[in-house]
Amino acid sequence: MSKQKIHPATSINGGIELPGDKSISHRYAMLAAIAQGTSELRHFAAAADCHSTLACMKALGADVKVEKDLVKITGHGLRESKRALDAGNSGTTMRLLAGILAGQPFASRLTGDSSLQKRPMKRVVGPLRQMGAQISAREDNFAPLEIRGGPLHSIDYVMPMASAQVKSAVLLAGLFADGVTTVTEPARTRDHTELALEEFGAKIERHGLTTTIHGLGANGAGQNAEPGFSLATPSLQPRSLDVPGDLSSAVFFIAAASLFPESTLLIHNVGLNPTRTAILDVLLSMGAAISTPQLRSAHGEIVGDLAVKGTTLKGGIIEGHTIPLVIDELPMLAALGPYTEQGIEIRNAEELRVKESDRIAALAENLRRMGAQVEERSDGLKVSGKRITPKLHAAEIDPRGDHRIAMAFAVAALAAEGVTTIRDSDCAAVSFPTFYAELNRLAGR
Ligand code: S3P
Repeated sequence: MSKQKIHPATSINGGIELPGDKSISHRYAMLAAIAQGTSELRHFAAAADCHSTLACMKALGADVKVEKDLVKITGHGLRESKRALDAGNSGTTMRLLAGILAGQPFASRLTGDSSLQKRPMKRVVGPLRQMGAQISAREDNFAPLEIRGGPLHSIDYVMPMASAQVKSAVLLAGLFADGVTTVTEPARTRDHTELALEEFGAKIERHGLTTTIHGLGANGAGQNAEPGFSLATPSLQPRSLDVPGDLSSAVFFIAAASLFPESTLLIHNVGLNPTRTAILDVLLSMGAAISTPQLRSAHGEIVGDLAVKGTTLKGGIIEGHTIPLVIDELPMLAALGPYTEQGIEIRNAEELRVKESDRIAALAENLRRMGAQVEERSDGLKVSGKRITPKLHAAEIDPRGDHRIAMAFAVAALAAEGVTTIRDSDCAAVSFPTFYAELNRLAGR
């Protein structure tokens, strides 16, 4: 099992460009495989998760060529895969693909690694069944999923939870349904699926928290299918697209730079979609020194550079509608807690228990190993700040196979006394294969 040693640092300096955004890469890859013709996706995510999506789309009949971070996908319509589709560690792959497969006239089996097989799938299986798909799941909730796709009918779905993956699964199924499907979310979540669908030519409308998609239905389905392929979606056009850098990955470096007064960091070409930037607002409200010198727009997404300087963070409470908007950044925020003045408290975040690991338990356990004072709660945790625990010490960290836990503690370890070991450190490759090399470079090693 891989191990990474993290030595204390004194500052984080220099420039960095992050790999392509994971959420956007998944969506572009799926829609490119559905569109007829060749799409070019530049700066595609290096994340293992997105390469799981590429492998699934290839198994479903798309031609996929990968040249470093340039991915060329030629779609012909999808066809049945003889093998099970393996989503690996990726919840986004499994849940979004379930939506697409529900509308195909063939059966599919979707599986994943041991972590993914423990994550709840009822949240997508329920609405997809309402649309007419036949789906079976282990204990009616877990992968492997057996999806018998077919003609779908549109629904008006009011989501019981704020989840971009559930919203996306229903919208993608809605693309193949007859009529108009609407999805209403209880709170804003990332909108990359809506933007990507629009970009590839789907008809989609948005009013507040409600999104409407016009399905291709029985008329669109199969019209232009090539021989051997069962379904084509003629209204989606191949596209040539640039994927912005991943803000959720950038946050590890923003946090690292913030820890040291001497830091000056420039992060280039980061995705700054407003449904993702709540983390910057949270950090700014805690006193972080982050500025965005330039913004531009790319295929509906907003992209810009971020300049970060070291500072003292106040800490604070994160709760309510902010939680779904910062869901992937909560591990880093919690691990920063002991270095803030007042500490950090996270509430209403029970979703963290069903991510790649039980992130609340993983954070509490590893923070305690480093000497932090933590109160673990069912829906979050309260981490005391510097006033109570003036210094953390090195420890052996068990990330429980979870990339964001491994990276959050690698950053926290930079400001601790002694040399920390991250066990199973390679799990970071799920979203960021070159993370440790970049962290070492910016720490001057
Ligand atoms: C994602 C949505 C979020 C997030 C995940 C990526 C997406 O999950 O945690 O890492 O790309 O749609 P939920 O929608 O389940 O909250």
